[in-house]
Amino acid sequence: MIELPVEYISKSEEETASIADNFSKEIESGSLIALVGELGSGKTFFVKKLAKILGFDGYVSSPTFTILNIYEGELPIFHFDFYRLKDQVDIENIGFYDLIREDGIFLVEWPEKARSLFPEWYYQITFDILGKDTRNIKIEIIK
Ligand SMILES: Nc1ncnc2c1ncn2[C@@H]1O[C@H](COP(=O)(O)OP(=O)(O)OP(=O)(O)O)[C@@H](O)[C@H]1O
Ligand SMILES: [Mg+2]
Repeated sequence: MIELPVEYISKSEEETASIADNFSKEIESGSLIALVGELGSGKTFFVKKLAKILGFDGYVSSPTFTILNIYEGELPIFHFDFYRLKDQVDIENIGFYDLIREDGIFLVEWPEKARSLFPEWYYQITFDILGKDTRNIKIEIIK
């Protein structure tokens, strides 16, 4: 287990992969993880690593156009990207509120528009670009 909140400076993809590895030990069925950060900051990269650690050995792609990808790991992994959704009504229409009450791990890129539908607590990981290969990565619990 890791003490939260925690903040890392990652200087490479490999370092981010090991942060994902540490974080994977925290989560359990029903965990929701909001992934915050500008374009190209590493949200999808983090999901790729986490999905692999959680037992999915297929291809993880960005759900920018599909809104939701589902991967079969040890638990189902729901990978949302709300970048292109206009408002909360769209998010309700995809059944988000009911989905996050199922068994699984829920990863949400661009969570801002969906926050009012989130559970009473969830993880949030914030990625800041410090340089080409350098990221500040903060992991906290939001209540
Ligand atoms: N230290 C690092 N940790 C993670 N990714 C890194 C790091 N250094 C460079 N990168 C690169 O940053 C890019 C992050 O792209 P990614 O698609 O994950 O961004 P994103 O936050 O999901 O963007 P979007 O908002 O467009 O979905 C990848 O090309 C990755 O290789
Ligand atoms: Mg992405």
